[in-house]
Amino acid sequence: MDRIAITGGARLAGRIPISGAKNSAIKLMAASLLTEEPLILTNMPRLADTRFLGRLLTRLGTVVEESDDPSADVVTAGQTMSLTTREIVSGFASYDLVRQMRASFNVLGPLVARTGQAKVSLPGGCTIGARPVDLHLKALEALGARIDLHEGYVYAQAPRGLIGAEIEFPFVSVGATEHALLAAVLAQGTTVLKNAAQEPEIADLAECLNKMGAKVSGAGTPTITIEGVSRLGGARHAVIADRIEMGTYALAAAMAGGEVRLTHARPELIDALSAKMIEAGVGVTRHDDGVTITRDPAARLKAVEVTTDPYPGFATDLQAQFMALMTLAEGESLVRETIFENRFMHVPELGRLGADIAVHGGEARVRGVDALEGAQVMATDLRASVSLVIAGLAARGETTVNRVYHLDRGFERLEEKLSACGAVIRRIKGDGEPDE
Ligand code: EPZ
Repeated sequence: MDRIAITGGARLAGRIPISGAKNSAIKLMAASLLTEEPLILTNMPRLADTRFLGRLLTRLGTVVEESDDPSADVVTAGQTMSLTTREIVSGFASYDLVRQMRASFNVLGPLVARTGQAKVSLPGGCTIGARPVDLHLKALEALGARIDLHEGYVYAQAPRGLIGAEIEFPFVSVGATEHALLAAVLAQGTTVLKNAAQEPEIADLAECLNKMGAKVSGAGTPTITIEGVSRLGGARHAVIADRIEMGTYALAAAMAGGEVRLTHARPELIDALSAKMIEAGVGVTRHDDGVTITRDPAARLKAVEVTTDPYPGFATDLQAQFMALMTLAEGESLVRETIFENRFMHVPELGRLGADIAVHGGEARVRGVDALEGAQVMATDLRASVSLVIAGLAARGETTVNRVYHLDRGFERLEEKLSACGAVIRRIKGDGEPDE
């Protein structure tokens, strides 16, 4: 299995182009099930997760074609994906498929909306938490689907089609909001989603659905209104820039020190992170298409507190990376995780690098240390893995991050983007030989 080796201590200088957002791309791909016409997605990131979902959609009847994005400049190297589902040939997503990528579960709603039935495996828990899908199922039931659970599978049926409804979520869920949206666009009548998630990826999905002929308003606010339509058509849509990738590289630059400009992105989407970085002593300058991060590595950072929250709050997907930065800050930082119950898997691994962190329930106290030291580490999810890369950029000596397949799920050309700015980072292929 591949590993990533980092020799810490190099300052970063240069530009990093931000790719299309993974968490938008995979929901947009699922939207292709709603129409028999082609959905063309540009600025698609090249990731293990999008390839994986492409394979699942192919089994359901989608013809997936990938090509280089002629509109993308060389630096972003985005991809164009054309998805055409003339006919749904199967309404079945197996345990093996959904287990490998939870977001595959989101094909359930579009399948029921288009064909009136589907059988999709329950995703089960994952390393960051139990992650139930009860809100997804309640939303589909509210839209008139009959839901039966047998042997780990959800059987959903709506032979006469879905019917618009008012759905108030008891708490904010990104996945349930997107799932309800994907199903309600083809329902008869009006659906109102209350206490909806406001993540930018939801607004991106709604924008794409509207290009396909849907009538969605209010996406990006807590109340989304959907006037159902009888059919959707094809569309062309550019995937929104990945705010988590942007935040991750902002934190990498802050950790290593130097000056890095992040381009092809929307700086306002990381406002909550930027405010905390400025408070910690990092320079953050906004531009129309991104942000410049500056930090003098000789000046010590200040410890600050963060609490994760749904958007526009501080993103849980940036919590591990921010904690890596705090390991070298002066004083004690408190990091509260409120979205997932087990999202501190990076803590013992940061400890292997010399960090001083104590976890009590959903809180981690990080006492800043003078220096980190390189070591062998590994993590069990994507964002935790990249927090170890960030820590490795500032650690003395060599850090090797194992289980790189987590990184490949969500970060496109990570080593290439960082080494272009002067980081000493390389991929070691599974056979132990460095990847040239
Ligand atoms: C999305 O997960 C993202 N994944 C996550 O990113 C992200 O961390 C999360 O939103 C929060 O921002 C994708 O977009 C593919 P939720 P999702 O439903 O939709 C509970 C990454 O690293 N809940 O907003 O699954 C749930 O257990 C990933 O890219 C229920 O109880 O998140 C959690 O505690 C990791 N019942 C909370 O709600 C439900 O039916 C919020 O989850 C649904 C969720």
